[in-house]
Amino acid sequence: MTLQAAISNQKRWSVELTLTDADKTAELAHNLRSGFAAGDVVLLSGPIGAGKSCFARALIHGLLADHDAVEDIPSPTFTLVQTYLAGDLEIWHSDLYRLTSVDEVAELGLLDAFETALCLVEWPDRLNGEAPISALSLDFGLCDDADWRHLTASAPTGTWNWMQTALSKAAANV
Ligand SMILES: Nc1ncnc2c1ncn2[C@@H]1O[C@H](COP(=O)(O)OP(=O)(O)OP(=O)(O)O)[C@@H](O)[C@H]1O
Ligand SMILES: [Mg+2]
Repeated sequence: MTLQAAISNQKRWSVELTLTDADKTAELAHNLRSGFAAGDVVLLSGPIGAGKSCFARALIHGLLADHDAVEDIPSPTFTLVQTYLAGDLEIWHSDLYRLTSVDEVAELGLLDAFETALCLVEWPDRLNGEAPISALSLDFGLCDDADWRHLTASAPTGTWNWMQTALSKAAANV
């Protein structure tokens, strides 16, 4: 099956793993960082406090540190978007929780950034279907244990193969 056919069929792979504390979430993001590239869109979903920003911050921090470009990584809760440059890679970290209208997504330049930058999007349900079909979904769930998070990663079959492999290994090593 071609990639396009797989995407249009909407078949998806998914991998689930448990992250037993915030450091584990950050470590996972850090370890995955070198696989990301311009044009990648990562949809980070889950309730308030689920760990979306924890993952995004560790990923951004790692990518910046690789280019000796460490800087503060403020929350985009009020600005909706924070951008960074890690070498040639533009990174957009957005939190759409406070988005007032879906038109704002285009006004922010986020739709264009989906093509050119690594985009990490918290509260992607606010996109109202504007997310690229090939986006990686990372869904964080709370657990009975206050420090545990249940992560479900998914993407269309045939896309994000490196992520599927890396997360399957991580899940097997828990
Ligand atoms: N396993 C874990 N993974 C990630 N964060 C954890 C974990 N265990 C505890 N935490 C804590 O949960 C909180 C997660 O906050 P974070 O800002 O990442 O959530 P969020 O999903 O971005 O929420 P919001 O929707 O408000 O943006 C942090 O205080 C973090 O220390
Ligand atoms: Mg957040």
